Amino acid sequence: MSEFLNGFKRTHTCGALRGSDIGKTVRLVGWVQDYRNLGSFLFIVMRDRYGITQIHVDATNPIFEQAAKLRSEWCIGIEGEVISRGEKNINKDLPTGEIEVEAKDLRIFNAAANTPFAIHDKCDADEKLRLKYRYLDLRRPCLNRNIIMRSQITRIIRRTLESNNFLDLETPVLGKSTPEGARDYLVPSRVQPGKFYALPQSPQLFKQLYMVSGFDRYYQIARCFRDEDLRLDRQPEFTQIDMEMSFIEPEDIQNICEEMISTIFKEVLNIDIPRPFKRISWDEAMDRFGVDAPDIRFGMELNDITDILKNTECKLFQTVLAEKQTTIRAIAVPASVKLSRKDIESSLGDVAKTYGAKALVWAKVANGTLDAGIAKQLSDDEKEAIIDRIKAEDGGTVLIVADKLNIARNALGRVRKEIAVRNNWIPKVMTKPEDVGLTWVTDFPMFEWSDEDNRWYAMHHPFTSPRTCDWPAFDRGELDKVYAQAYDLVLNGIELGGGSIRIHNIDVQKKVFAALGIGEEEARAKFSFLLDALSFGAPPHGGLAFGLDRMVMLLSGADSLRDVIAFPKTNKATDLMTEAPSDVDEKQLNELYIKTDLPSEGE
Ligand code: AMO
Repeated sequence: MSEFLNGFKRTHTCGALRGSDIGKTVRLVGWVQDYRNLGSFLFIVMRDRYGITQIHVDATNPIFEQAAKLRSEWCIGIEGEVISRGEKNINKDLPTGEIEVEAKDLRIFNAAANTPFAIHDKCDADEKLRLKYRYLDLRRPCLNRNIIMRSQITRIIRRTLESNNFLDLETPVLGKSTPEGARDYLVPSRVQPGKFYALPQSPQLFKQLYMVSGFDRYYQIARCFRDEDLRLDRQPEFTQIDMEMSFIEPEDIQNICEEMISTIFKEVLNIDIPRPFKRISWDEAMDRFGVDAPDIRFGMELNDITDILKNTECKLFQTVLAEKQTTIRAIAVPASVKLSRKDIESSLGDVAKTYGAKALVWAKVANGTLDAGIAKQLSDDEKEAIIDRIKAEDGGTVLIVADKLNIARNALGRVRKEIAVRNNWIPKVMTKPEDVGLTWVTDFPMFEWSDEDNRWYAMHHPFTSPRTCDWPAFDRGELDKVYAQAYDLVLNGIELGGGSIRIHNIDVQKKVFAALGIGEEEARAKFSFLLDALSFGAPPHGGLAFGLDRMVMLLSGADSLRDVIAFPKTNKATDLMTEAPSDVDEKQLNELYIKTDLPSEGE
């Protein structure tokens, strides 16, 4: 039961036929989505990438017997006449709902085994099973739509960038490790035993080298690889829309990105996004929202109440404030959100604790003052000042985190977002401008101190340029006061892309390496090609990279990157369909001089 096409070419897709086609003889090809045999006639619902069409076969039809054998997911072709469903049977929810096709000829291109799960949007099969049979999972209209949207977005990106004179240029996949912050995927070299390539975490240095070569405007839809802990918005193998430009200021690249993003919103979701996009500095984002990728679609912003409590009698706050670099931050949860003691202390408290806070402190607002929770330990003046500062309303709740600055802001920022999610303040699917929270976050700190490693790290990457106004601080070695010419674009609380103006001067690059603890020798060993390139008239340049997968996830309203990548990996970085990664032949390992030395079970 499988035949070749033998010239049976379709005249229409399964999403194309309308009332105006009634009377035409057509050919459709696709898969059996549903079938129903009512004795005197039968229905087949045929599906392809474009939609579904209902096929009608009368019991008197010579092909009836053959059609009665069709089962779900068989691959078939139908020739027949487009007929009206009749006024009563019109399905207004379906673009092809006015018509059906009265079949005259049936081709069975292939039968299908029973599928391990139903090919329907409502299928509730375990994700692992769906990933094992991903090619079937991708037949489901919801996933099919996401992958098609991905292609549509890619097309708009290419069109916008090409019309702005960008060149689509490739960069190597087998390369040398560049420090992007994650662990590298390594590839052993057979011809140079013991040596390894690294798969690119991003094309960062190559795109800078294109600028040194004078190509001026580069872009690439580039595959990147990072061996890091995976989450819903992180995959080990993901795609960047990678861009770089010469002779520009941050606004130049931001303008092009805004053109690209607003065109995507218009063409994909029919939403008009006002331009220019909002801009807030990193300092402001951290102060108001507690995180560097803020969701700006709702209020409940953070407030600093440290000064109000600096002479407090409250032991808890006294202890925290006695330590260096601590702060007390508060949010006013509106009266419409009912929070029980358990909600606060267990579930929201757990969110705060996950982000390092020792506790989530609270009080209720009643009759214009603070009540319950921490209230009894505060003076009347303190209570009044807090209510006044954070504009807490009667019936509402005040949530407070007192901790190290970074922890207090971050933990309370996460609690803020959690409350919004639980109360459905923020829609997942964007249908109107208010659903879209887009903002640039600018002026990131250049360096970030790690207590754990007792050293400074680059917050973006070591090729990002410090702001010129911060040179004096850099010269004085006050690295915490140096900010970078770096910018992220944030959509609905998720970092969509990030970039910066780069260092194009060799001395500055060496100085930044030195600040990061990369000495002259190590810099030469790792980046001699970059340092050499900077010494040959490198132009001022800068760029940005968007995460394409994240963009599609947010635009399609998907829950996870796995729903917008055709063949994704699980949280354990495995491909359940091909079973990669897998064992390889001893012979392959021998050729590479590789011996595995795995810990035995339980170690
Ligand atoms: P960055 O590391 O910020 O910058 O990455 C740019 C964007 O790529 C996306 N992204 C990811 N998406 C899915 N899974 C991942 N594991 C993952 N990691 C990052 C994010 C992020 O905003 N070379 C610089 C860019 C530049 O400076 O031009 C870079 O790679 O959406």
